[in-house]
Amino acid sequence: MCGIVGYIGKREATPILLEGLKRLEYRGYDSAGVAVLQNEKIEYKKRTGRVAELSRAALNNGLSGTLGICHTRWATHGGVTEENAHPHLSNDGKIALVHNGVIENYLSIKKFLTSKGITFYSETDTEVFVNLIAYHYEKEAESPNRFKESVRRSLKHIEGTYGIAAICRDCPDEMVGARKGSPLIVGVGENEYLIASDVSALVSRTSNVVYLNDGELVSIKNGELSLVDYEEKTLKPEIHQVDWDTSEGELGDFEHFMLKEIFEQSEAIQNAMRGRFSDDESSAKFGGLNLSAQELRQIDRILFCACGTAWHACLVGEYLIERYARIPVEVEYASEFRYRNAPLDKNTLVIVISQSGETIDTLAALKEAKRKGYRTLAINNSVGSTIARESDGGIYQHAGPEVGVASTKAFTSQLMILSMMAVYFGRLRDLSFQEGLECVKGLKRVPELVENAVQQNDAIYKIAEKYKDMTDCLFLGRQDMFPIALEGALKLKEISYIHAEGYPAAEMKHGPIALISKDCPVIVLATQPDIFGKLISNIQEVKARGAPVIAVTCESHPLPEGLADDEIVIPDCHRAALPILASIPMQLLSYHIAKLRGCDVDKPRNLAKSVTVE
Ligand code: AGP
Repeated sequence: MCGIVGYIGKREATPILLEGLKRLEYRGYDSAGVAVLQNEKIEYKKRTGRVAELSRAALNNGLSGTLGICHTRWATHGGVTEENAHPHLSNDGKIALVHNGVIENYLSIKKFLTSKGITFYSETDTEVFVNLIAYHYEKEAESPNRFKESVRRSLKHIEGTYGIAAICRDCPDEMVGARKGSPLIVGVGENEYLIASDVSALVSRTSNVVYLNDGELVSIKNGELSLVDYEEKTLKPEIHQVDWDTSEGELGDFEHFMLKEIFEQSEAIQNAMRGRFSDDESSAKFGGLNLSAQELRQIDRILFCACGTAWHACLVGEYLIERYARIPVEVEYASEFRYRNAPLDKNTLVIVISQSGETIDTLAALKEAKRKGYRTLAINNSVGSTIARESDGGIYQHAGPEVGVASTKAFTSQLMILSMMAVYFGRLRDLSFQEGLECVKGLKRVPELVENAVQQNDAIYKIAEKYKDMTDCLFLGRQDMFPIALEGALKLKEISYIHAEGYPAAEMKHGPIALISKDCPVIVLATQPDIFGKLISNIQEVKARGAPVIAVTCESHPLPEGLADDEIVIPDCHRAALPILASIPMQLLSYHIAKLRGCDVDKPRNLAKSVTVE
């Protein structure tokens, strides 16, 4: 998704802005630009491609000033061109704007502005937006807060979503920002302020941040920060401390963030568990649910909503919670739930899962659930994110920043929290003390077992070498291995661009078996002892049709010699932990295949780390 950084202070803005953009690169983009107020003129540079190219252009051309804005663009309206890259300047060159989001009524506004003689150089909605601000700026010539007022008045005509930062040629001591549906954060530094779409762009300058809510406009003028709503009601900015160690977002000795984050999973899962087991060790406990034990006992249905990998975590959660807590669970894509008008009774608990806490479809589903009066919880990895602030209660993952676009440690951290949630809900109902004790004991071993599982890295690399040129493949699993099959397929397709599908293993016979051939390798998750025989049958059905098989099995239940072409063995573990352990080979296999294919593992084409447009 688009990334925004603005700076106003005493220092040279350009290097600070470009440093912030570099920290936002992981979110995915296809062009970038920077604008700085220099000698009473807005000077700018834009480039398609990487931030490094923009940096060369900006620094080599002496972009200099103490007020500026910059942007990484993930194309929505208009192709990937320099003209369409942000920042966009108004026709008169007085105002520059960067924008994350989609303006739905931009064509009608463009038509109005064209009738006023405004001309356009790009295909974007953002260029329309900045000219609307300039139009109001000319009309507000007598207003004491002319620039802020021109932005505020423009916002009242805008339909859609936005996170913006804007500067004006006549106002060297002022920067304005606003948000509706796309995240925006203000960094409060020593005699300097930053505006950004993501905390990661700010933490190297300050740990004091103000999170904007929808419908709020921030103005930094003459070193003072003011916050108003669109009716000019003054709001009190709340300063939060971000406890983010900037080194966590560094690559260290790893070649890619994805590999680093795969190897960080043991620690991330440890963090998810920390302080969350009950005193008698037979259950889990969570602060921040804002639901009493009695209220939780009255819950008679759980609806999970999420997108992508987080949705796969929800599917695992369904198996875990139904098994250990005996609560009926439904899982819905967030983008589907918001339009489905699902008949749910009032004792339904809606739980959303989101690593970034900013996925707009998940946020919309959360708001829809709240609009209908359901209790809501959020499991997310981003403190202070919009989803964290909009939900009634929640559980932070504490997995640390996940920079690789393909989610790994956030996923297994979500699975750990869901396992603990299943035990917690179960122990409030029919799960016995002994069963609870065994679950907790098993979950506590997971960090050590994950550390063991990632040691298969070299062996999995060798398997990846054999299959790196495949063009199609199937991932099969039963029960809670089915979501892991889906996740394995998503990991592979999103970073290696190989067509991959996940299926319930038994479902293969109802169609996908037609795809099976020597050119369609099949990955089978054969990890459950209780249905091991069924999975062996599935492998035999696949082998009988000439397809190579990569099997994932547990130490205590290896396959008969020679049945599979390749076998990855994971450590034996408690049943509740099996989805976590089975995820590790999926992650490593996709990572090595993508790397062997020369793909951009951390920033795969067309993808964004946080999808903040619908
Ligand atoms: C996962 O590898 C993908 N990057 C993507 O599916 C992601 O899980 C999805 O966009 C949801 O993101 P969130 O968890 O931040 O809401």
